[in-house]
Amino acid sequence: MKDALQPVAAVLHNIVPMATDNHIFSFLPEQPMALAPGQFVEITLPGVGSFPVSACDQVRDGLITACIRRAGRVTEALYQLEMGDVIGLRGPFGKGFPLELFKDQDALLIAGGLGMAPLRGLLQALLDDPHRKARIIVLYGSREPEALLFREELVELSKEAQIEVRFSVDFAETLPSLDDRVVCKIGLVNELLTDLNFAPRQTVAAVCGPPALYHCILEELALIGIPAAKIFATLERRMRCGVGECCHCVAAGRYICKDGPVFSLEQLRTMTEAI
Ligand SMILES: Cc1cc2nc3c(=O)[nH]c(=O)nc-3n(C[C@H](O)[C@H](O)[C@H](O)COP(=O)(O)OP(=O)(O)OC[C@H]3O[C@@H](n4cnc5c(N)ncnc54)[C@H](O)[C@@H]3O)c2cc1C
Ligand code: FES
Repeated sequence: MKDALQPVAAVLHNIVPMATDNHIFSFLPEQPMALAPGQFVEITLPGVGSFPVSACDQVRDGLITACIRRAGRVTEALYQLEMGDVIGLRGPFGKGFPLELFKDQDALLIAGGLGMAPLRGLLQALLDDPHRKARIIVLYGSREPEALLFREELVELSKEAQIEVRFSVDFAETLPSLDDRVVCKIGLVNELLTDLNFAPRQTVAAVCGPPALYHCILEELALIGIPAAKIFATLERRMRCGVGECCHCVAAGRYICKDGPVFSLEQLRTMTEAI
């Protein structure tokens, strides 16, 4: 308990601007930290505050990497830091995506906006599995083409036979010219499911985005035929301790920090108003 509440010092190793107010930050903690896709860490800026964040990549060479949006007070302070500055990290916290369920199953990853960041962590974990042969389908919706995170990387990945990528944008005067293999439509991300050819009963789905996305898509996936126990969503709540002690994150009788933040639709159906 004491250790979980005590931040570990971590050096800000690299900053890569990605889209307006969305940068990729990597941190090197002074003690190695494991962080599975969907789990989160608390980033602490001494004298400022802390916030939870999921990784957008596997831990590589000890580095924890996250795509962080400049959203408010603490993230604004993070954006003022420079490489070499020291922050605090606590974690890893929570239950991530059940990677064992994805083995030998097709993966359907559906993201809205910044939700692509944690799902990119899951995507990297699937790609790192040398034995994986099953399909990976990524449906990703954003406000406008410029706000699509990891766009070039996803387009490149779609050139591999195993991976199919479809984008949607809410607004665009002209749609970007992407690779021929990549679909890009004006509309909502759930509309990308129309005419998608896949086998629901051998698919595991992971969804990450704003609550409005969950309202329209989770039950739709179940209606299409994906079992509710194989549809996962990650919930966002204001966190403090991260370990089920402060009750700050409780929703529908569950600790989002400890019991989640990743839940199956089967669990969410019993968690009234959690979304
Ligand atoms: C499990 C998990 C994973 C996450 N992963 C990521 C990630 O990968 N990348 C990322 O960028 N973010 C991620 N977040 C979100 C991130 O933690 C928040 O954006 C965090 O609040 C930013 O802190 P801040 O102090 O900069 O902003 P805040 O001051 O907390 O403000 C952030 C936003 O919340 C609004 N807000 C402020 N106070 C309240 C309030 N009391 N009630 C409702 N809204 C309020 C603000 O207007 C602003 O829009 C994650 C959150 C969780 C729980
Ligand atoms: S953040 Fe403290 S109980 Fe969940």
